[in-house]
Amino acid sequence: MIEPIAAIKNPLLRAFTSASLGFTIVTIISGSIIGYINPKDKSALKYGIYSSLLATVAGGIFGLTVAEKSNKLKLSLDKQQIDKSQNQIWKDWRNFIVVRKVKESEEITSFYLEPQDKYEIPNFQPGQFLTIKLDIPGQNKPVIRTYSLSDYSQYPQYYRLSIKRELAPPGLSVMPGIASNFMHNSIHEGSVILAKPPNGKFVLNVQKKLPAVLISNGVGITPMISMAKATAQLNPQREVYFVHGTRNGNYHAFREEVLGLAGENPNLKVHFRYSRPELEDEGKYHSQGYVNSALIQQLTTQNAEFFLCGSPNFMQSLRDGLQAWGVPANQIYFESFSKPIAASSQKSVTTTDESVTTAEIVFSKSGKTLTWTQEDGNILEFAENNGINPPYSCRAGICGTCTCQITEGEVSYQEEPTAAVDEDSVLICISQPKTQRIVLDI
Ligand code: FES
Repeated sequence: MIEPIAAIKNPLLRAFTSASLGFTIVTIISGSIIGYINPKDKSALKYGIYSSLLATVAGGIFGLTVAEKSNKLKLSLDKQQIDKSQNQIWKDWRNFIVVRKVKESEEITSFYLEPQDKYEIPNFQPGQFLTIKLDIPGQNKPVIRTYSLSDYSQYPQYYRLSIKRELAPPGLSVMPGIASNFMHNSIHEGSVILAKPPNGKFVLNVQKKLPAVLISNGVGITPMISMAKATAQLNPQREVYFVHGTRNGNYHAFREEVLGLAGENPNLKVHFRYSRPELEDEGKYHSQGYVNSALIQQLTTQNAEFFLCGSPNFMQSLRDGLQAWGVPANQIYFESFSKPIAASSQKSVTTTDESVTTAEIVFSKSGKTLTWTQEDGNILEFAENNGINPPYSCRAGICGTCTCQITEGEVSYQEEPTAAVDEDSVLICISQPKTQRIVLDI
């Protein structure tokens, strides 16, 4: 009943309506009570009239004030709504439940993640990745990794990560991938893992007109699916070439998914190349060999944007080949969660005169104030050598995991950060102090 009264805009009309209502209700109630108890008692009648008048006055005052209260309530509800929607883009770690686990190939398994809090999750740009944190038995601190998002929807209900099991290379005393093996062996439907919001600059601007050439090998296919799906949904007129190389049918993830997408979208052209096809793979691939720039030249046009994702050697040879073909460097984008081989050619290395040779670094959360010198390397290494263990993943300025707030001073970057950083934040894995004193919230 309050809301209809509060909805009346004219305050006099609102007060009159509310007063009438108060009068009517109290008159009916008091009249009934008097009639039932003692119909002949005049003083009871008097009390009935006073009550009705009182209710009328109270109703009038209520009518005058109810709109303001209702507006405050509405504002508070709106604020809660805003808070809830802001919760979509969370700042730190958020719990996600694995709702589906699907084997995609011999080596790759997909994990479908939904937020445990059931609130919405933000959309992301095709090509971005998710940073996850895993508590792995035997590790003295959580293991943080970044994996490309391998699906796309404008209004995502889940995030999909498709992870390759990294085995130890045969004959070498190298550890197998701790995180990928843990994901494959120990993370199941119902498991909870922590994740940061989607991030990364290896993204496709869907609305551009130039054809997009998505070139991948192995698990590098994951961001390409997201890019192909986003283009099919948001700009289906755009020409997209999807070129993927893998060993054979057993190692070929998402074959049907990509072909299904191409079947619905004539502007998506697909080429699969197998390096060591099996007999039973007949008809599943388009050519045999490794994906190289000669193949790209046969299939596509120079006047396009090229996106590369795969092993470092694969990307290096393609970048060289495409540039030799005449593709401008600014039309070639690449993603690698290890430092790209050619990254050194893009470095804007900080010279010693841009950073100081010695500085005081305050790690405020750890309660440590330490003296840094240039021999100590980047801030992440320096922190670790002094018993402080900030989170990190790529150690190359790509994933954003080591981001921390800087409340005093400045840093200089040893190379251009790939991850997005706020104005008051820094990536400590690729930076050194630029001022004599810096304060970090680590
Ligand atoms: Fe990835 Fe620093 S650890 S950006």
